Amino acid sequence: MTDKKIILSGMRPTGRLHWGNYTGALENWLRLQDEYRCYFMVADWHSLTTALDRAGEVAGNTHEMLLDWLGAGLDPERSVLFVQSQIKEHAELYLILCMLISIGRLERNPTFKEQVKDLDLKGEISFGHLGYPVLQAADILVYRAHAVPVGEDQLPHLELTREMARRFNNHFGEIFPEPDGLVTKFARFPGTDGRRMSKSLGNTIEIAASPEEIKAKLMPAFTDPARQRRSDPGHPEVCAIYTWYQKFMPQEADLTATECRTAARGCVDCKKRLLAGVIEHFAPLRERRAAYAGDPRRVEEIVQAGCSRARRAAQETMARVRDAMHIG
Ligand code: TRP
Repeated sequence: MTDKKIILSGMRPTGRLHWGNYTGALENWLRLQDEYRCYFMVADWHSLTTALDRAGEVAGNTHEMLLDWLGAGLDPERSVLFVQSQIKEHAELYLILCMLISIGRLERNPTFKEQVKDLDLKGEISFGHLGYPVLQAADILVYRAHAVPVGEDQLPHLELTREMARRFNNHFGEIFPEPDGLVTKFARFPGTDGRRMSKSLGNTIEIAASPEEIKAKLMPAFTDPARQRRSDPGHPEVCAIYTWYQKFMPQEADLTATECRTAARGCVDCKKRLLAGVIEHFAPLRERRAAYAGDPRRVEEIVQAGCSRARRAAQETMARVRDAMHIG
């Protein structure tokens, strides 16, 4: 055993990941693999809370997302890659944590309030949806994680997790570390229309996109609307293309900003140059992904091995929990 600190993070399986998922989460996960003992989880149960009618798509989406993870370079030798629903201990701890949090506290969760507004679910909110953060807390605590890399939007869930950990520890003895959030930068990564890149807005470019697909989405992408003519000076700070330069071709970002502001470079040229850069950036990921896609047995083995390792850790925690509670 190592004495490395433990990380847990997860994503709901939404299918193929896009550049926003990559810069917002995956890239961080890659880095963390060196320093921590990492558990990375496909949160398939969580995807049911808002999309029960699409339960049949979860398995396919899980596979696509795992290919993106492996393609991006998550290393199954170092990190535990697993699927939430395979580890029943999450459900057991969830049930116990449900006793440690009030309904009012969950109703005040800002993420929940926002979703209720966005999804127009009034009157149709499931108990499971309200309890989403409790399940998330179980995901984290069942591995006794010390830190959780998340986007800023998830911080309220982490606060709830810490509260439940504290309450459990007060009642039954110190079992759970209070996990810290590791907040990801580049959380507001722009999509092809300049708004935040998000699958629901239809403005994404997938990590697995072919050079042709990247070109088809990148060339018409949003730029500074004030720059109508080639000779108009631009404002790189409002331009999606410029943010993509900063991310994928940082060595060219300063020059790009200068040439945009002085109208020395036109948007079409600017995009072509970026296109070449991003194609090169994602080429190794695409190749690695394709190799895994062609070998589904290998992917299955990796996930099964990850699930076994996760299960062992979760079972150990639950044995301690039951013992501390004198139950089960
Ligand atoms: N709620 C997270 C999201 O939507 C996904 C998630 C589920 C998660 N369980 C987790 C993230 C545990 C971190 C830790 O992005």
